[in-house]
Amino acid sequence: MRQVLWVALCSLLAGVQAEPGVLLRLGMDVMNHEVQSAMDESHILEQLAAEAGKPQPGMKPIKGISNMKVKDVQLPVITLKFVPGVGISQCVSTGMTITGKSFMGGNMEIIIVLNITATNRLAWGEETGLPVFSSEGCEITLVSVKTNLPSNMLPKMVKKFLDSTLHKVLPNLLCPAIDAVLVYVNRNWEHLNDPMPVGQLGTIRYALAAPPTTTVSFIQVDFSPVVQQPAGKTIKVTAVDGEALEFPEGYAEGSSQLLLSAAFLTAELALLQESLAMNIREPMVGELLLQTTEILASFIPKVAEAYPKPRPIVAQVKINKPPKVTIKAGSSLLHLHGTLELFAAQRPRGQPPTFLFLLEIHFNLRIQYSVHENQLQMATSLNRVLSLTGGASSVGNFNEEELTGFVADYLQAAYVPVVNDVLLVGFPLPDVPAVNYDLAELDIVENALVLDLKLD
Ligand SMILES: *[C@@H]1O[C@H](CO)[C@@H](O)[C@H](O)[C@H]1NC(C)=O
Repeated sequence: MRQVLWVALCSLLAGVQAEPGVLLRLGMDVMNHEVQSAMDESHILEQLAAEAGKPQPGMKPIKGISNMKVKDVQLPVITLKFVPGVGISQCVSTGMTITGKSFMGGNMEIIIVLNITATNRLAWGEETGLPVFSSEGCEITLVSVKTNLPSNMLPKMVKKFLDSTLHKVLPNLLCPAIDAVLVYVNRNWEHLNDPMPVGQLGTIRYALAAPPTTTVSFIQVDFSPVVQQPAGKTIKVTAVDGEALEFPEGYAEGSSQLLLSAAFLTAELALLQESLAMNIREPMVGELLLQTTEILASFIPKVAEAYPKPRPIVAQVKINKPPKVTIKAGSSLLHLHGTLELFAAQRPRGQPPTFLFLLEIHFNLRIQYSVHENQLQMATSLNRVLSLTGGASSVGNFNEEELTGFVADYLQAAYVPVVNDVLLVGFPLPDVPAVNYDLAELDIVENALVLDLKLD
């Protein structure tokens, strides 16, 4: 019954879940760094040495040797390998010296080198929705034994000793160390699916879309990111033409990448829709002041009549559809649909401006991506005005298309800076341990932005 319910629940969840909008590939670079830093953080070496120094239950003494001690646990060398469909196999090579006093009064030393191997199975925490590693199949393999014992004592006694030590004592001593390290590795992923703010405009939560998968050269984590407005409304990430997301080929073996789909970037930018409005402002100084009614007068006779003395133009822009990001290999565009209302500023200043006309506009901006302080940044410049349709007008009818050049110049000068100001908010990227997104190389591929990740 429980199973049936579980299956029903899963299919229900699958139904509401969007296509993955973000993919993460974790190469050996990240995993090595992860495990190594977990070894350091967990102070596992010191713990091992301390544990090993204590009397070990089950360690059979060697006849004629007293005061046996373990010392000098060596710095472990860790080798990781991906195991497709399972996770990571881990081999920790280390060594230690066992000392004692022989009944003849001499010092005895046995130097052993050994490998601890285990499989770190990668699963998906059902409750947390986070990737978790758990170890299984921990084994100790002897690599070499050296001793200063007289050779006639060697074979039998040492063999007996090693058998008991290796098979009874060392697994109990060393295998928990593997688990202890994984606790630290898992802890580093704890914030992976926490909501992260996009300024005051909303949050992004990188929720896993499915359990992570392991191949021979990487672990892939698919996210169904949840983009939410402050009031809690979720913006749907809608895949572009139902196309499956794919990493391009050709990244260095062992390296890690993050892919952000155009659909996901579109959902992120939907958070900005209202902020992208531009309200009427006093005409600015400098270049913008040059845009006066005079320039319109040459296209619209009634403007010439109404404003024989040129007046500065002020404008209002409203964006009335969610912005849309498109990405083709090598270029990315931000599509905006809205209205542009033009006014003639009044003299003296402080008087409300006079409405001239309204245009329905569709235009696009070229996006340039960068990463700063682990946030995705975008900056734009006008690419093209795609359509202009006339709306209300106080200056009669005119041919809107003739205004295309003027509108393009006006948007670039007056409106694009507003967009770029809003975009300064930056977008959070998944909290992946060890990765410094600021160093990532960005690639614009079909329908996606790919970050080739670098470690700190
Ligand atoms: C011990 O581990 C190292 C590193 O993974 C490997 O090269 C070596 O073959 C292993 N030795 C044994 C005896 O398993």
